[in-house]
Amino acid sequence: MVPRHVAIIMDGNGRWAKQRGKERIYGHYEGTESVRACAEYAAEAGIGYLSLFAFSEENWARPEAEVSELMRLMASSILNERPTFRKNNIRFVVVGNRAHLSDALNKDIDGAMEETASNTGLTLVIFLSYSGRWDIMQAAGRWAADGAPEGRLDDYMATSGIPDPDLLIRTSGEQRISNFMLWQCAYTEFYFTDTLWPDFRKAEFRQALDEFASRQRRFGKTGDQITQEKNDSK
Ligand code: FPP
Repeated sequence: MVPRHVAIIMDGNGRWAKQRGKERIYGHYEGTESVRACAEYAAEAGIGYLSLFAFSEENWARPEAEVSELMRLMASSILNERPTFRKNNIRFVVVGNRAHLSDALNKDIDGAMEETASNTGLTLVIFLSYSGRWDIMQAAGRWAADGAPEGRLDDYMATSGIPDPDLLIRTSGEQRISNFMLWQCAYTEFYFTDTLWPDFRKAEFRQALDEFASRQRRFGKTGDQITQEKNDSK
């Protein structure tokens, strides 16, 4: 079964560059090629949502030169990828604490979001200046301000309207969630690979999807219950 929503923590750009004796930013540039390859493959495979953790709230603490290069890279990628979005019927969405982004970048983001809003294929969600704890805090604040209505906090999360991830991939051998979608990943399957992000392309993505297809998700129930439910729905 193809997951409806795949989330990726794209890690290892810096190490990839270092291995080649290059500056870290060179790894980020090569990483954008993986972004394009994975977005195209996700669209082709029939995945509904692809979420990419591009810049965390914590990443602001990196050296200023790297932060500004990354922001420049985001801006140029958004402009350059518009034909890819058009060609592949991709809807482009940005999620995160956008108050921290520059006015110019926010304008580019709004432009790309408006232009692709009615595309019906893959929804590509770029997480920029995002952290899971920030998201829970902002949601709880707005929920309380609304008089703490009964029901789901989901409606107040920055990802409102986007289903929870079925599969979370992290590249580069690290095995942690690093303040990504903490609330939304309650029942998500995790997949870790040693491959560095700039080397994570179609073949590696397909391997992760194959592994996902072989897992049985139980959502707290027993294996027998899940088998029974599957038989009942046939
Ligand atoms: C992690 O590698 C990567 C990032 C913090 C940035 C991710 C950004 C991109 C792939 C480029 C642009 C993205 C879009 C959506 C256009 P790292 O720097 O932490 O690597 P390291 O752990 O080896 O140091």
